[in-house]
Amino acid sequence: MKIFLDTANISEIKKALDLGILDGVTTNPTLISKEASHSTFNEIVSEILKTVPGPVSLEVTSLDHKGMVDEAMQLARLGDNVVIKVPITAEGLKAMKMLKEQGIKTNATLIFTSNQGLLAAKAGASYVSPFVGRLDDISEYGMKIVDDLKTIFRNYNFSTEIIVASIRHPMHVYEASLIGADIVTMPYSVLEKIITHPKTDEGIYKFLEDWKKVKH
Ligand code: G3P
Repeated sequence: MKIFLDTANISEIKKALDLGILDGVTTNPTLISKEASHSTFNEIVSEILKTVPGPVSLEVTSLDHKGMVDEAMQLARLGDNVVIKVPITAEGLKAMKMLKEQGIKTNATLIFTSNQGLLAAKAGASYVSPFVGRLDDISEYGMKIVDDLKTIFRNYNFSTEIIVASIRHPMHVYEASLIGADIVTMPYSVLEKIITHPKTDEGIYKFLEDWKKVKH
């Protein structure tokens, strides 16, 4: 399973890269806005793109397919690792198809049903991003869509990869990995949580205490 960070914060990205387990980054307008007090959009994304060796999703904000494609073409010029995040709407589907024809990778975002994911795959999206946390928020079982999409893509031999998004806690990562999701994109806070365990810390402390009793 590939691990992406869901952030536009460069220091979080650098810390995750240092761990040696980071495969890519996803952003959205909300995440970019959190970093925008001292930098422009172009400054923020240029630094991310040159820092991350893997795919970086950047989201379009136009609502019509022509506007989405125009924005995507400009964003794609910023780096070879740009993936265009396109919301799953009728206009978004048209844009995904057109961008596929131009050789530009897309990530269909704001996926809340497996049918939306199926359509995005048919339109040629390289990735689909089901938002599991936001479904859990409204008392639906978000991870069910990940499981369903896995089956659907296998049924029809789609090469579209599933990015489990809107990750809120370690159990989301655990469940996604059991299902066999291709990618999980998580906030840095969740990455920190899945590294640690109190019994690991306790064990290290005990080993070091006992090691002091050994003559060298
Ligand atoms: O980047 C898309 C997604 O991961 C957003 O997550 O926590 O805002 O629902 P969240």
